[in-house]
Amino acid sequence: MREFSEENLTEAVVERFANTPDPRLKQLVSSLVRHLHAYVREVEPTFDEWMGAINFLTRTGQTCTDKRQEFILLADTLGISMLVDAINHRGREGVTETTVLGPFYVENPPEMPLGSNVTGGLKGDPLYAEGVVRGPGGEPLANAIVDVWQSDADGFYDVQYADRTEAGLRARLRTDADGRFYFWSVMPTSYPIPYDGPVGDMLKATKRHPYRPAHLHFMIAAEGHETLITHLFVDGDVYLDSDAVFGVKKSLIRTYIKQEPGLAPDGHKMPGAWYRLANDFRLKLAAPVHARTGAM
Ligand code: BEZ
Ligand code: FE
Repeated sequence: MREFSEENLTEAVVERFANTPDPRLKQLVSSLVRHLHAYVREVEPTFDEWMGAINFLTRTGQTCTDKRQEFILLADTLGISMLVDAINHRGREGVTETTVLGPFYVENPPEMPLGSNVTGGLKGDPLYAEGVVRGPGGEPLANAIVDVWQSDADGFYDVQYADRTEAGLRARLRTDADGRFYFWSVMPTSYPIPYDGPVGDMLKATKRHPYRPAHLHFMIAAEGHETLITHLFVDGDVYLDSDAVFGVKKSLIRTYIKQEPGLAPDGHKMPGAWYRLANDFRLKLAAPVHARTGAM
């Protein structure tokens, strides 16, 4: 075809991908073209608006570094990350629900024995967190890997402190023979997602706030089970109904119970108030290998 028009252009572009050998790739690109064209037809952008969009995406790419992923932040704030999460985690009745990983997970966090203080000197009200990692039938899972990470009292993760290189408020624990884990940390606080880049500009222009309700992150891996990525949110947080990244689920809200000064469960003498969080997690069985790879 030589003559492209407003009417025939979409199908002409789709047709150009007709020889894509991988059927899934063909579906992904064809559907992308159809949806992008439908969007352009609906909103009828001016050239200035089109250039504005190009500049926005260019700045989003330029803001990415090995420590900052602005495209994921964009997907998070547009609800795309949680939609992908929901589509890929259907049928989780009876097991712990999932939510976004977020940009502050660091691979291979420092391994610490059970009962450790994971703060690395970062500040906040003391929190004793404990629980059991279980399979779908409630059976305790020994030697499960429990990665935890969170923000401090000022709403910052360790990696956000420019002058800091050591880990803080993050650790890798392993459950004991009874599936138990326990550690000392601090009360998490609500905090703004990074908003000094293009995603922040988008939030400002649309009068959206950048805050996430206070939460503790968990990534839990146990043999034969799907790795669980989730948070436990603090009940009563003012941002529970307006999380900037749409990550809240009712089943993940917990009461972090305030305790009076005195003896903690591990015998620590607590001179001031502290908090206690108890939560068991249930992991889903991993799909059999042939179901995951499509092999027969
Ligand atoms: C987080 O919880 O760490 C997070 C998740 C999505 C975007 C920004 C931060
Ligand atoms: Fe977080």
